[in-house]
Amino acid sequence: MTPPSTPPSTPPFTRYLTGITTTGTPHLGNYVGSVRHAVRFSRRADVQSFYFLADYHSLIKVDDPARIQRSTLEIAATWLACGLDPERVTFYRQSDIPEIAELTWFLTCVTGKGLLNRAHAYKAAVDRNTARAEDPDADVTAGLFMYPVLMGADILMFNAHKVPVGRDQVQHIEMARDMAQRFNHLYGDHFTLPEAAIDEAVATLPGLDGRKMSKSYDNTIPLFTPRAQLQKLIGGIVTDSRAPGEPKETEGSALFQLYQAFADADETATLRRSFAEGIGWGDAKQVVFERVDREIAPLRAQYEALMADPAHIERVLLAGAEKARAISRPFIAELRHAVGLRRLEPARQPAAAKAARAARPSFKQYRERDGSFRFKFLDAQGQLLLQSQGFGTPQEAGRAIALLQEQRGEALNTLANRLEPIDNETIRITIEALETLANTSSGV
Ligand code: TRP
Repeated sequence: MTPPSTPPSTPPFTRYLTGITTTGTPHLGNYVGSVRHAVRFSRRADVQSFYFLADYHSLIKVDDPARIQRSTLEIAATWLACGLDPERVTFYRQSDIPEIAELTWFLTCVTGKGLLNRAHAYKAAVDRNTARAEDPDADVTAGLFMYPVLMGADILMFNAHKVPVGRDQVQHIEMARDMAQRFNHLYGDHFTLPEAAIDEAVATLPGLDGRKMSKSYDNTIPLFTPRAQLQKLIGGIVTDSRAPGEPKETEGSALFQLYQAFADADETATLRRSFAEGIGWGDAKQVVFERVDREIAPLRAQYEALMADPAHIERVLLAGAEKARAISRPFIAELRHAVGLRRLEPARQPAAAKAARAARPSFKQYRERDGSFRFKFLDAQGQLLLQSQGFGTPQEAGRAIALLQEQRGEALNTLANRLEPIDNETIRITIEALETLANTSSGV
């Protein structure tokens, strides 16, 4: 039943995975510092992206159910409004993938408690308590303590190569590596060792008070606040007290930095000149507001349309979860087998197997008139599910078939550019058919 464990192969792309905790409303700093860049990056041909709403994580920080639901909707709508293409990337909600919770337990059992004692977030809580002469673990939940293990499960479940995160999260990626190494050492080579990807080029945005824009400083500008409100908030950014006519400093000006995050080099040079020539703060704010709004307005319209149709977003997320589970389901089966959670009875009686084989999905290999070698994958009723493109040799086509049989959902991703495009629904059906085929084949 369970496929033999294959070491993760070296694919022709790099797999990026990142999670967004569903505790708040996206702000301009999130857009400039992460969303905008990530959406562009996800379109690269050599990149495979996994983005998910880390709602299991949100339970560690927030005990207000309505806020978690609201934030999940807002964050999903934000990423979609900003152009994330759910057909191209795998976009899902963490809690739709129960395999992550199960993997969290497997990893818990190979993670040293001492390692978790050293996690920054937990240590900071302990230090705060100690400074106040309280019990070191006062108000610390086991959820906070286990945070790095849940995050490790997110990453290792999909064998991500690179994990784009802020600096504060780098330690968690290193811990995920440790867990992967430990598990691989004990049970065989199952996990890819992930690396943090920190993009230095991406700007951090100052907030209303000039400090880094952050929810914890309460100085944010909500990304999709209405136009009038955006104008008001930008009007409230701190400036110095120089009067119109007096030259202004661009260095250290929150307003100027906000402009820079949206404007091109020419526009930036022009505003720099205006600062030197003594533009009044009110006029400068108007210039910045119009520039920001020019970029945001079309996205805001999209966002509002999406927010008005939560059922659509729900469907997008569920389709994304199916795509993700096409990988996580067979992978957790492999991991269960690896650790010894195995079925007790021998595989299957030959007679039953034969009956099952009579009507089962099948691969058909053939040679096209142009001389290329191709294959089709048909369901049990003979309906076409997959159509390959041309391969140079029958061996290459055969290897692609073997990969599909072995890795199923994972292989659909790997082989995406050797197959005719299919939609998410067909992906789901195809994976089921590949599973049926595996479960009804002899041996294993
Ligand atoms: N901990 C991350 C944060 O606070 C969110 C997150 C959860 C995440 N799981 C992840 C990021 C997995 C990257 C990979 O920003």
